[in-house]
Amino acid sequence: MRRSYDTLFFITLFFTPVHFVSAAELQDIEQLFKQKCSFCHAIDKKTSGPAINAMSNEKKVLLQVITKGKNAMPGYEGKLTDVQIDALADYLLANR
Ligand code: HEC
Repeated sequence: MRRSYDTLFFITLFFTPVHFVSAAELQDIEQLFKQKCSFCHAIDKKTSGPAINAMSNEKKVLLQVITKGKNAMPGYEGKLTDVQIDALADYLLANR
């Protein structure tokens, strides 16, 4: 009996999508960044906008600028969801 519970546990663990979903989400965010942002932002060199590695390391600054825009940087409020904007800020922090 105990053994079948163990098996069930492992089957559940194996099919729990947590890992796969987050990997897929990461890819989506990378895609999103490529589509919407990489035109003006490269990882390590200034193009039209600042390089990612020259950006603020404060998430609230990133969120503010992505949401509201700043000078030549367009605001994405209403164009992207809060979840997407939050994930983009994390993506920038992870790549700086
Ligand atoms: C049309 C070009 C353009 C596009 C497209 C663009 N940006 Fe920007 N971005 C800029 C410019 C220019 C600045 C600098 C604004 C300033 O400080 O005057 C900037 C600044 C920023 C900053 C602030 C960095 C800091 O530390 O002050 C963040 C964060 C940012 N952009 C993220 C993004 C994200 C995420 C996207 C895609 C959703 C994006 N940008 C799309 C041009 C762009």
